[in-house]
Amino acid sequence: MLLHAPRSTTTSAPTPLSLTDLTALTSEVADEVRAGCHTVQVDRDKRWYRLVRTDAYVDVWLISWATEQYAELHDHAGSLGALTVVSGGLVEQRWAGGRLRSRRLLSGHHAGFPLGHVHNVVNPNPTPAVSVHAYSPPLSAMSYYAVDGGSLHRTGTVLVESGSSEGVG
Ligand SMILES: [Fe+2]
Repeated sequence: MLLHAPRSTTTSAPTPLSLTDLTALTSEVADEVRAGCHTVQVDRDKRWYRLVRTDAYVDVWLISWATEQYAELHDHAGSLGALTVVSGGLVEQRWAGGRLRSRRLLSGHHAGFPLGHVHNVVNPNPTPAVSVHAYSPPLSAMSYYAVDGGSLHRTGTVLVESGSSEGVG
């Protein structure tokens, strides 16, 4: 007789790290940023990024968001992801249940991105925001989307070179 059903712990992603691990990692690096261990810049013309940790399993990015800067609607291909807001506030718009749903992410808040997660991130506030993002395995591609007639349409896919900041968010 089976007393305990086996618990599923798979993530279906090619990484030994879980969303919980990635969230903890971004929270740890966010604490480093608050402690002044990393220099942060804000560029009003283009989102500013810096790769702060990298290995075979995970990339960790520090990102600043000037007012109205955004990432565009995208996925993370075969990578899991997570973010922690260091300061300021962001709004995440994610595709769920056949529509875009918004949630505010304030300083100290976390968000996890399972496989298939399609979202945009924007800073709608008058002051800059700073966030830490982790992706595992490191981002290799991202697809971009548009919402048309209530449906989600993929508009293109870009390959992400190792360590490239292109599109990260
Ligand atoms: Fe993203």
